[in-house]
Amino acid sequence: MKDRQTRGKFGPFGGCFAPETLIPALRQLEISYQRIAHRKRFRERLDYLLKHYAGRPTPLYLAENVSRYIGCSVYLKREDLAFTGAHKINNTLGQALLASLSGKTRLIAETGAGQHGVATATVAALFGLKCQIYMGKIDWERQYLNVVRMKLLGAKVVPVTAGSQTLKDAINEAMRDWISSFKNTHYVFGTVAGPHPYPTIVRDFQAVIGRETKRQILQATARLPDYLVACVGGGSNSLGLFHAFYHDLSVQFIGVEAAGHGLTTSAHAATLCRGRPGIVLRKQRSAAGPDVAEHTVVGWQELERHAGRVHLHRTRTAVGHKYAVHIRKLNNLMVLTRTVEIRRVRLFEAYVAACRVDAPVAPGREPVAAGHHVDQVQSLG
Ligand SMILES: Cc1ncc(COP(=O)(O)O)c(C=O)c1O
Repeated sequence: MKDRQTRGKFGPFGGCFAPETLIPALRQLEISYQRIAHRKRFRERLDYLLKHYAGRPTPLYLAENVSRYIGCSVYLKREDLAFTGAHKINNTLGQALLASLSGKTRLIAETGAGQHGVATATVAALFGLKCQIYMGKIDWERQYLNVVRMKLLGAKVVPVTAGSQTLKDAINEAMRDWISSFKNTHYVFGTVAGPHPYPTIVRDFQAVIGRETKRQILQATARLPDYLVACVGGGSNSLGLFHAFYHDLSVQFIGVEAAGHGLTTSAHAATLCRGRPGIVLRKQRSAAGPDVAEHTVVGWQELERHAGRVHLHRTRTAVGHKYAVHIRKLNNLMVLTRTVEIRRVRLFEAYVAACRVDAPVAPGREPVAAGHHVDQVQSLG
């Protein structure tokens, strides 16, 4: 038990606090990942698919109008141009390849807005695997177009009517399915959360974003950026971006969390800003609600979070991020520690302003910014 909890740790965060019934599935996944995903042939095949199927590398675009508008150079890492319209395809391609090489014949996944569901249904079709996507009933109704897309791709989409009928309930249903089906089924988890080994696996598959960004920004400017800015929902696009820069101590990370109805209420999604350590979704992390006692086992069900956008309704956030915030608090005088600033941006105003001056920041896209002298970017908030 202790061994399980210490594997996949990010400082005091992460690990594997899972019910006994889920352990065989997680253990099997951990072993296949170690055995298969580090092989040269796996890497080569994945690189090939990322390039020729998903359209990588995605461009790093100097947003000239935004840069002029705010007075500093802002580069956008155009994950919106990856196949299916977001970074989700990086992770789903990696996990589907792993599943197929592990002899699985079926994929399951949770989805909120549908981006991860569409990306999973897409790779299931590519690899000839059966696919079942769990989606909260409320999300299903709000994002019906994505339900249609998933069905067109051959997936069975299951509306979840339990609980708040959103992402957390979809995750619970998918986990229940997996407990009894893992012999032939791989659960394609969508972000860097959940019990070990998911945070590590998803981080590794999303790290391509940061590797490309580093190469591209050096080519474009012959220097590293001052700041990397990314939204933090579950944390996969941001951790994917930050990971390659972890040892570049001059580069600061800014993760932007959704403040929902306000950080003084319990209806927000800012687990890094306001969360407290707890055990949620079978790994130790920061739980969103103010009513979660330190190190309390919250158990199987998750608390509701509010983000103002459907797919950011989460209680779970990257354990890697949580650790970065944590070490800064403990060692705030150490130059070696990495600053992760989590800012509450008046997102909508900033977003509208940015949309009006640069089309790639248009609604529904997935901009991840690598910026120079980003003080002015922060002043948008
Ligand atoms: C397009 C898009 N961006 C960002 C996110 C946030 O997730 P993460 O923080 O894991 O990148 C999601 C979540 O589904 C998404 O669909």
